[in-house]
Amino acid sequence: MYDVIKWCGDHLQLLDQRKLPVQQEYYLCYRVTDVIEAIKLMVVRGAPAIGITAAYGAVLAARQYNAAELLSSLDLLAQARPTAINLHWAVERIKKRVIDHQGSQLDECLLAEANEIFQQEITANEQMAAYGAELIAQSNAPCNILTHCNTGRLATGGSGTALGVICRAYQQGLINQLFVDETRPWLQGSRLTCWELQQADIPFQLNVDGAAAHLIKTEKVSWVIVGADRITANGDVANKIGTYSLAVLARYHQAKLMVVAPLSTCDLSMASGSDIPLEYREATELCYLAERQLAPDSVAVNNPVFDITPAELVDFIVTEQGVVANPTVEKLKKLFEARAV
Ligand code: MRU
Repeated sequence: MYDVIKWCGDHLQLLDQRKLPVQQEYYLCYRVTDVIEAIKLMVVRGAPAIGITAAYGAVLAARQYNAAELLSSLDLLAQARPTAINLHWAVERIKKRVIDHQGSQLDECLLAEANEIFQQEITANEQMAAYGAELIAQSNAPCNILTHCNTGRLATGGSGTALGVICRAYQQGLINQLFVDETRPWLQGSRLTCWELQQADIPFQLNVDGAAAHLIKTEKVSWVIVGADRITANGDVANKIGTYSLAVLARYHQAKLMVVAPLSTCDLSMASGSDIPLEYREATELCYLAERQLAPDSVAVNNPVFDITPAELVDFIVTEQGVVANPTVEKLKKLFEARAV
């Protein structure tokens, strides 16, 4: 099994997701600035994966800097990408360790925290897979499923969020046909999800994003299953651009929308999705495919890479703590309170 994120004692090794599926190359980070660059360039991507990566980045920073420099480098880490709350959540956990630290080596203490964050995400993935597959088993299985973006091992370091549920459901014989959106413009679906599914020997068909409506209707898709980058207190969901359209399509065609995300993706400090900072990326992502130019020179481009799905279109949020149907402020609050007990 390949390592997506691996701590190697004096550096962090990341599987370079920009190179997949053609090359399996590693990107090595020896300094925290390498880690910040890796997150910005999407060497590593996916909400939980960038949180874990940032936590290890903090260990490198602790070896480079004094306390004041360390805290400002943690702020830079948190700012590497704006939408996924996992990045900010992991950096906040690390900051607390830095501030409370006394005695032993700080880098060792941060390494223990990073390992714990990584392990917690892996465990959460397994729990979500079980809860999500259980939901599918209660519906008319075996069923047809559509997924968007990449939400597997590459995005979490564990078995995945949405893709973890899909793999578990497949193992349980609950899937008839799986459709994978290519996920324009970065092509997380065609480049990464297809690669992961092939490694796992799970059959699927790849489709252009624009085919989703047609497929949901004609192939009787009953589940649209996606991950999330941030879920606000009222259950609004920020996820890869195109998720909102899928949610509208699912509701129109009586398919169910399942959002699979660990509690580290929930941001109860934000009232609703309209508060979430959405990332916009460079025009080149649309205008070029590798070296090939796809649009005329100097074309005006609007490239939001996430969108917000309103809670009313979300049928289920699956977390490691359990499942919330038709999310509301009260239900999400209760989920967090149950964890605290
Ligand atoms: O821009 P990316 O590739 O980091 O976006 C990833 C997604 O939108 C995923 O759906 C999300 O992070 C959840 S995956 C665990």
